[in-house]
Parts: sequence; C-alpha cells; structure tokens
Amino acid sequence: MSKFASLLALLAVVPSLAYAQSPVWGQCGGIGWTGSTTCVSGSVCTKQNDYYSQCIPSSSVPTSIPTSSPSAPTSPTSAPGSPTTSNPSAPSGTPSAGNPFVGYDIYLSPYYAAEVQAAASSISDATLKSKAASIANIPTFTWLDSVSKVPDLGTYLADADSIQKSTGKKQLVQIVVYDLPDRDCAAKASNGEFSIADGGQQKYYNYIDQIVAQIKQYPDVRVVAVIEPDSLANLVTNLNVQKCANAEATYKACVTYALQQLSSVGVYQYMDAGHAGWLGWPANIQPAATLFAQMFKSANSSPFIRGLATNVANYNALTAASPDPITQGNPNYDESHYINALGPMLASSGFPAQFIVDQGRAGQQNLRQQWGDWCNIKNAGFGTRPTTSTGNPLIDAIVWVKPGGESDGTSNSSSPRYDSTCSLPDATVPAPEAGTWFQTYFETLVSRANPPL
Ligand code: GLC
Repeated sequence: MSKFASLLALLAVVPSLAYAQSPVWGQCGGIGWTGSTTCVSGSVCTKQNDYYSQCIPSSSVPTSIPTSSPSAPTSPTSAPGSPTTSNPSAPSGTPSAGNPFVGYDIYLSPYYAAEVQAAASSISDATLKSKAASIANIPTFTWLDSVSKVPDLGTYLADADSIQKSTGKKQLVQIVVYDLPDRDCAAKASNGEFSIADGGQQKYYNYIDQIVAQIKQYPDVRVVAVIEPDSLANLVTNLNVQKCANAEATYKACVTYALQQLSSVGVYQYMDAGHAGWLGWPANIQPAATLFAQMFKSANSSPFIRGLATNVANYNALTAASPDPITQGNPNYDESHYINALGPMLASSGFPAQFIVDQGRAGQQNLRQQWGDWCNIKNAGFGTRPTTSTGNPLIDAIVWVKPGGESDGTSNSSSPRYDSTCSLPDATVPAPEAGTWFQTYFETLVSRANPPL
C-alpha cells in the first residue's frame, strides 16, 4: 500500500475513532455501524436508510424529508378521465406528440431541495453558500429506491397537480424506478432491499403496483421515469458475475412488468443504457441494442417507452472537447458519439428510441484513472443545466438524474455495502453510504460547476 493510500485509509476511519459524538453529516447508526450513535449539538441523528443514519443540522431536520403533503392531495376519485388500461387519458398527452419534456415545467423534488437547503445553511463562506442554495432550483430525479419512498411520490404528484391548477403551467415529475431484487448485481454499493431468493420478484411487482396506484390518481401530471439504472447493462456485459447470471431472467421479467404497467398509466419511460464507456465499446453496442429492442417488444412496443437514458450517475461529457485519454480504443468517447451510434442500431431493430442524458456531475472532465471508475469521483463539478436544447435530434433532454451531493457508495470497508471502487485513488474519501448526503462532495460540485453557478 502506498503512503498515499494508507493516509486515505487512515482518514477513512478517523470519524469513528476521533469523535465521541458524530460530527454534522457524519454517520450515527445503521447496519454494521459500531461508532457513536449520538450527534454533536446542533445536529440530530436521522435515519436515511437501514445502512445509514446521519447527523443532520437541526435547523433543517423538520424540513429534510417531507412526510406530509405540502398541499392537500386531490381526491383519488375525482379523476373521471384517469387512464385505465391501454389508452392513457388525453391530458397526459399522446406519445406521438413527441418529446415529453416540451411544454412542461419540471417539478422540483422537495426532498432534494431540503437536502440542498440544509447543506447551504451549514456553509459559512457567503459566495459558496449562495451558489450552493441556487442548486435547489435545478430539477433532479426522485429515486424510488425502496418501497418506503413510494408514498413520497403521491405527495409530489398532489403538489404538482395543485401547482398546475393554480399557475396553469403543466408539471412534469421525474422519477427513477430502482428496486429490482438482487439490485446492483455486479457491484455492492447500491445493493437493494429485495432478494430473488426471498420472493423478490413478487415484491417488486407489488412495488410497481404501488407506484402505478399513485400515478393513476393524478392523470393531469406528466411523469417521466428512468427505469432501473445499471440492470440491463449488467446483463449485456456482466453475465460472468454469478449474481448477474442468476438475476437475468428475473431482471427481464421485472423490467417488462414495470414497462407494461407504467405504460398503462401514461408514464414516459427511458430504460437505463449505461454510458459510452460501458455499452459504447464496439463489442458491446450491438448486443446492447438487441437487448433493449427485445425489452421494448416484450412490453408490446408501447410508445410510452420513449427510449434510453445514458450516463446516469456517471461523469462523461455529452460532447468532449477532446477524448479523455482513458477512453482510448473506443470510438464512442463521449455520450454524443455513443448515442449517435446506438440510435440507428435500435431503430433498425424496431425500437425508434430517443435519449436523455445525465449531465449533473459532468462539468469537469479528465478526472478518472480508469473509465470504469464510478464512485464519488474527485474534483467533479455540476454540469450543463437541464434543457431540451440539446443540439441533437436523438436527444430529448439533458437532465440531472443523480442528485448531486448524494453519495455513490461508502468508503467504509466494514460496511456490508462496501465496494472497493469507493476507495480507489480517484474516489473521494471518507464517503458515506450510497444515496446519503455527502457534504464535502457537494461543496466541490458547487465550486467546480461548469458552467459556473
Ligand atoms: C444510489 C443509491 C440510491 C440513491 C441514488 C441517488 O444509487 O443506492 O439509494 O437514491 O444513488 O443518489
């Protein structure tokens, strides 16, 4: 181990050794946690998920994760035009109308806004603080990464519906469907709550049913969904990993179910398609196109399956000024090249796919030691803001799917979800559990944003 690596390893354990009480933003509980379960004054230990409780500044705790509707939900029975089975109601729009983002305001996730406000409130530098606070106005996706998050969707839909009624501006809610059994089969950081061995497929169907039940109640609000990051990409390249091979049939059945059910209530969907440095390699791109086209057909080629999402939670440029040296050997060295190559392959397989591209953390380039590195990459900056002005007819929108500031995975090697990728030299350490707030990482994203904030 190099001196540098051992220093990092030391830093990684410092929080649990040096504090009798955990610091603000530090861990204070969760499966496998043996450190302090109390927080320094001014912060409150707040459960984020089974693996992670975190000391959140007390000023922001009451607003951190809304549990009740900011405005009264409309009655579930008040929607006579609500979509039923195959023909979603007119207010959701017909898919042939094209790009689902056009003509809609994107609803701001209160969950992310609260995370950002709490983060900004604990920054003392005035310039950085105000830049940080401005991030709360940039739309990200809401990750439904466990069944317990599904009721939040109902809250947001009700809120979006009432905003739409009071302002006359059509609202679009962005979600990530992310709860497959044996999730994250080739990595460890985002292992989920369901396992195939324990009835996970049926539990997943039930999770989808609950999402559909919420959406049905608000037929006037448009919903755009990214479907299951990493899952189908893992089936293209990682069937040599036992957990992925074992999950193949279940992933396909579950994704098909999600596509069919969400189509039945008019959700515009983009299946996750990895990124240029994964499925964009010459050996992978045609097998990827074949699989995505199969999935499209398995869901009856619904026009609500609008296409694919790329670069989710990743760091690739849409259009790189010049190829990052780590991309050498791959002609698809950025997301534009990848999409321009994949789009026609899909079309000729019968899937006329459009794309959305995550640029939330892609503001800075040439940061990684290897293209496959994905965990809390050092010195990243917020990227191009969400827009439908993409300059590419295959791309519906540039979006921010990963809520910047939420961790990609823990660097704590004793966590059950520890993935060694999260302590590589190009990963920021010490890092908290996947999905939980990572304050120093957020501050870096803000200060290195490109375009600047
Ligand atoms: C990771 C986490 C998930 C979180 C998402 C967005 O994939 O596993 O819990 O919601 O990132 O931050």
